[in-house]
Amino acid sequence: MRILGLVASPRKGGNSELIVKECLRHFPPTWEKCMIRLTDLKIAYCKACYACLPKGKGCILKDDMAFLVEQIRQADKIILAGATYILGGHTSLKCIRDRSLCVLADFEDFAGKDCVIAASYGLKHWDGMVKEDMITFAREFNLHIVDSELFYATLPGEAVSGENLTKVRRLAESLRTGVKVQTETDELLCPYCGGRGLRIHQDGKWRCLLCAGQGTLVFQNKELSLDYDSQDSFYHFSEETKRWHIQILEEKKRLFLQEKDQLKEIQRRYQDFNNWVLPGDTK
Ligand SMILES: Cc1cc2nc3c(=O)[nH]c(=O)nc-3n(C[C@H](O)[C@H](O)[C@H](O)COP(=O)(O)O)c2cc1C
Repeated sequence: MRILGLVASPRKGGNSELIVKECLRHFPPTWEKCMIRLTDLKIAYCKACYACLPKGKGCILKDDMAFLVEQIRQADKIILAGATYILGGHTSLKCIRDRSLCVLADFEDFAGKDCVIAASYGLKHWDGMVKEDMITFAREFNLHIVDSELFYATLPGEAVSGENLTKVRRLAESLRTGVKVQTETDELLCPYCGGRGLRIHQDGKWRCLLCAGQGTLVFQNKELSLDYDSQDSFYHFSEETKRWHIQILEEKKRLFLQEKDQLKEIQRRYQDFNNWVLPGDTK
């Protein structure tokens, strides 16, 4: 069995790295334990060529994305730990997420891999969307998120000290058993994806900013809760939606080929205006 620790922070010996190492310590010696620092990988931006859509095709860009995909494919369990950078997850996560279109059609290969998420942040209430960015990353690879936790930790080492250490050990336990160790929270989390970003409407309806799951707000006995249809699988991260997404993209590709000439005509109207400014240009 193989456990993979993904570190979404460039800081050597930083909180994300230490969380991963602490978590790996709680797995039996028979397990193969590996780590990848995402910022060490060379990952180019997605070029929107859509060449990767067919199952098994992969991305045409020759960089470290194929290596990462293969490492995730080979892992049985994954811990994803990352830092908050300006109210969200580290950029390396977004860059890889954008490229993850190349595994959309292969989503079944990744199903069933347990994953836990650990997000560190350094300023109280400045964690922004870090947890949500990491949920999206994991779900783009169709990983099964067993548990997640936020770590208030500024200096390197604080994430594995005091109460935080107990939290890391809880994550390790959840990941090892594949069953979330129950914890108390007074936050209303999206029941579909676990995200905290909910859009509230005047008519009492709520919709998750992340996965588009929806339902109704209920106020009973001085407590708010989220009512939802547990049978509804049409939220962004469900396998049903992944199948639908593949179909839509294939359809758009066909439509593009059909309408290529008209679209070229529109583009031609703008082709002579090319005042791009590049570093090193002199006036
Ligand atoms: C460029 C940069 C931006 C940051 N932005 C935030 C932020 O928006 N909110 C926050 O709470 N902490 C922020 N931090 C602090 C880190 O998230 C925090 O120190 C975390 O523990 C670092 O994890 P690491 O040691 O794994 O890198 C930022 C740190 C850096 C270097």
